[in-house]
Amino acid sequence: MAKKKPKKAKQGRAKAAAKKSARKVVKLSAGKTTKSAKKTNGKAKMNGLPRPSTKPYGQDGKALTGVRILDFTHVQSGPTCTQLLAWLGADVIKVERPGIGDITRGQLRDVPNADSLYFTMLNHNKRSITIDSKHPQGKRVLDQLIKTCDVLVENFAPGALDRMGLTWEHIHKTNPRMVVASVKGFGPGPYEDCKVYENVAQCAGGSASTTGFRDGPPLVTGSQIGDSGTGLHLALGIVSALYQRARTGRGQKVLAAMQDGVLNLCRVKLRDQQRLAHGPLTEYSQYGEGIPFDEAVPRAGNDSGGGQPGWILKCKGWETDPNAYIYFITQAPVWEKICDVIGEPTWKTDPEYATPKARLPKLKQIFARIEQWTMTTDKFEVMNTCNALDIPVGPILSMKEIAEEQSLRDTGTVVEVDHPVRGKYLSVGNPIKLSDSISEVTRSPLLGEHTDEILKDVLKFSAKDIAEIKSSGALSAPNKEGKAA
Ligand code: COA
Repeated sequence: MAKKKPKKAKQGRAKAAAKKSARKVVKLSAGKTTKSAKKTNGKAKMNGLPRPSTKPYGQDGKALTGVRILDFTHVQSGPTCTQLLAWLGADVIKVERPGIGDITRGQLRDVPNADSLYFTMLNHNKRSITIDSKHPQGKRVLDQLIKTCDVLVENFAPGALDRMGLTWEHIHKTNPRMVVASVKGFGPGPYEDCKVYENVAQCAGGSASTTGFRDGPPLVTGSQIGDSGTGLHLALGIVSALYQRARTGRGQKVLAAMQDGVLNLCRVKLRDQQRLAHGPLTEYSQYGEGIPFDEAVPRAGNDSGGGQPGWILKCKGWETDPNAYIYFITQAPVWEKICDVIGEPTWKTDPEYATPKARLPKLKQIFARIEQWTMTTDKFEVMNTCNALDIPVGPILSMKEIAEEQSLRDTGTVVEVDHPVRGKYLSVGNPIKLSDSISEVTRSPLLGEHTDEILKDVLKFSAKDIAEIKSSGALSAPNKEGKAA
């Protein structure tokens, strides 16, 4: 939205202030493009420091331009990682099995014959080439890709890459600069050979045992912390390895195990495991209910994981709307405001309620009283009232509400994408915003859509070579007789 221009008097004051600060800025930093600074420095960099971008927010090139990724990923964990890198500007070449492709293309299909949303929402901004990685001519193409790319990313079952002949030794010999990044279910140890999916990782990483209610079974969460969470970890490992390569000239192996990634996201529960040795976890409602703790961290329902107690409370309409709830945090610094808003002003000074310590054993009762108030009004009104008082609360938003939320569209966090087969659909855009870098979202590729352009423009195969490779059957699905199509 365009900002209003300041009035003349204001402009004068602003100019004077800018001039004053510009004098300071020229000495201290090159961060401002004031007139005087420009004059002093001419074309050269000011004080040896770079100037700020002259382009609008997020429009000055792509962060990972020049990085080329050989994307051997499938399903979710690996594709999330390479999609992030693609959004940040890397050229991601997705290698898929001829005729089949990434298995998610056909999983949970909602539109006949169109790539599923599962696939399209995890493979934006990529190019697709089909290669039978076990065919001699396919290996020839892959070796050329290894020579040309900076990073190979894969999340096959343990040993699958080696069985294709793509051992670390082979890759490193072919291209010593290549970073080889893998997602596996487990790191080295007793389970290293296991295949793993999202919920297995949530269970093995400590999330399921600590999610849910104490008197119910372990629960998996709706967030894909095992898959997408590990993809995020891997992406950080990759850019770190590229940064180190800039110093050493050498690639390295990057491993993100899903169990490790989940555990990293559950670290507060490992914190609590150790605190148990020194007494009960007083911020867990179990403590206030007088129920003794066992040896392991229990499930804590909707208790807050931090030092400020919180709980999910009903709001007006909860009887019919499953999401008419709000997360309410009784943050200590705003306790007095909470007392006023719920109509319990005496709790501000009553020693039974006035301090966080005194409140701990009574959290259930306190939240029940707050809920009497939240049930009188809808979740957005609770949000408005509390935010105005600096009381931290969060409405429980349904996916429908998120899909329709205009502010998420405005920031590009939710985007509408057009696809030649399925038409328009919604997706989550890049959640990481960089002030200089362009981060656009383009549709996922059709299976093998870019095979020809990659062979010709990226790998520089001659027309004769391309014809030879194609006729060998290495890039196409076998026909019904099992012969190359
Ligand atoms: N050309 C020829 N063969 C190909 C190929 C290609 N382009 N792409 C894949 N294949 C082959 C593999 O070589 C492998 O064959 P092999 O076992 O005979 O050597 C085969 O396809 C299957 O690969 P695999 O990874 O075992 O797939 P899967 O469907 O059996 O298992 C997972 C799926 C996800 C369980 C498994 O890949 C895994 O555990 N990955 C690591 C953890 C992970 O990322 N899990 C999260 C998934 S969201």
